[in-house]
Amino acid sequence: MIIEKVHAREVLDSRGNPTVEAEVTLRDSKSSNREPVTGIAIVPSGASTGEKEAVELRDGDPRRYQGKGVSKAVANVNTTIAASLRNLNILSQQHLDEELIRLDGTSNKSKLGANAILAVSMAFARAFALAERTSLYRTFFPGGPLSLPVPCMNVINGGRHADNNVDFQEFMIAPHNAPSFKEAIRMGEETFHALRSILKTKGYFTGVGDEGGFAPNLRSNEEAVEVILEAITKAGYHPGKDISLCLDPATSEMWEDGQYVFFKSTKEKISSDRLLALWSDWVRQYPIVLLEDGMAENDWTGWKSLTAQLGGNIELVGDDIFCTNPAILKKGIEERVANSILIKLNQIGTVSETLETIRLAYKNNYNCFISHRSGETEDTTIADLVVGTNAGHIKTGSGCRSERIAKFNRLLRIEEELGSQAVFIGIKAFKNK
Ligand code: PGA
Ligand code: ZN
Repeated sequence: MIIEKVHAREVLDSRGNPTVEAEVTLRDSKSSNREPVTGIAIVPSGASTGEKEAVELRDGDPRRYQGKGVSKAVANVNTTIAASLRNLNILSQQHLDEELIRLDGTSNKSKLGANAILAVSMAFARAFALAERTSLYRTFFPGGPLSLPVPCMNVINGGRHADNNVDFQEFMIAPHNAPSFKEAIRMGEETFHALRSILKTKGYFTGVGDEGGFAPNLRSNEEAVEVILEAITKAGYHPGKDISLCLDPATSEMWEDGQYVFFKSTKEKISSDRLLALWSDWVRQYPIVLLEDGMAENDWTGWKSLTAQLGGNIELVGDDIFCTNPAILKKGIEERVANSILIKLNQIGTVSETLETIRLAYKNNYNCFISHRSGETEDTTIADLVVGTNAGHIKTGSGCRSERIAKFNRLLRIEEELGSQAVFIGIKAFKNK
């Protein structure tokens, strides 16, 4: 494939902040009578980011978007990257990504910006699929197994994603007892709407947070779990049997001087051991199948204890601690930290490095949980990624807001496209289930 053109522009994410959109146009090097194809992709942006994520380049110019402009990252695509890639014969995604990494030359993509690099990497993936006349999801692990995921829907938002008094960031429902993705999403949406009416009846606020989940002020973090369980029942399902719970308390945000601070509710500080006791109680009490970032990224000791204690029961996902980075995941595997990894393309910054991390996880019997960011767009690459890597579960927000629903809609289309070949593995998507 010859790269004919690379172009980027500044567009907006779901929080109204600028982000990078890129277009890559490919021409077939062998047949000149085929029309060139163009792939377009937009990168997302996180709020509770891990310290070791690849660098998202922002202008820092207070006169534009309060310093959040991405005109430098866009210019890096339109000058350095476009000039270097133009007319290059690119053999594969890996080849393209190696060129991008070489051009940047830093270990964390801070020169050109991971937002600039990933936009081009993802746009290339799309153009490549078009050139191959195949669906994007078939290009990641060609010939490998495909499956539709359990949609883990973040129905109550707290932490850094909402202006309420809930310390833990994400309370998700996982509708798994379904014959298909289409039915699973229906169960999830029905529960989401039941939750709304329960919150309303209780006199709680029904506005939503960054990922489309409700963001009420509650009496405690436990109450978030309890209203969700009530909603599952009200919607006509059985908690645990039909729909289970997943949590991302995002505890790196609570970590301060070696302790965990309930920074939004009681301001209480607890030790790593006490937090572990809390998780053990919750897992005993509630139908929790997955706990993400149950310990902070800088609390490896806490992570090891958590894994030793609960790693045989539920899925323990490392987000901030691993940052989708194969080198850090390798260390985690060696030190018996977690049994699953969160996968966010923009934490590492290219499609091929993301796939390398996924391969490493699978090889070591870790699960992969595919994820959006809190700042999202209409881009649906992660929907294809979860199907194409057979990861089995995805988190892409709640039951409303189009930047979240865009991924669900893409999954509905993929399921229809796969027809009788569509596979939905349900509860088996989760570690130890
Ligand atoms: P972020 O949150 O996109 O704001 O980092 C998502 C998460 O913590 O999983
Ligand atoms: Zn997380």
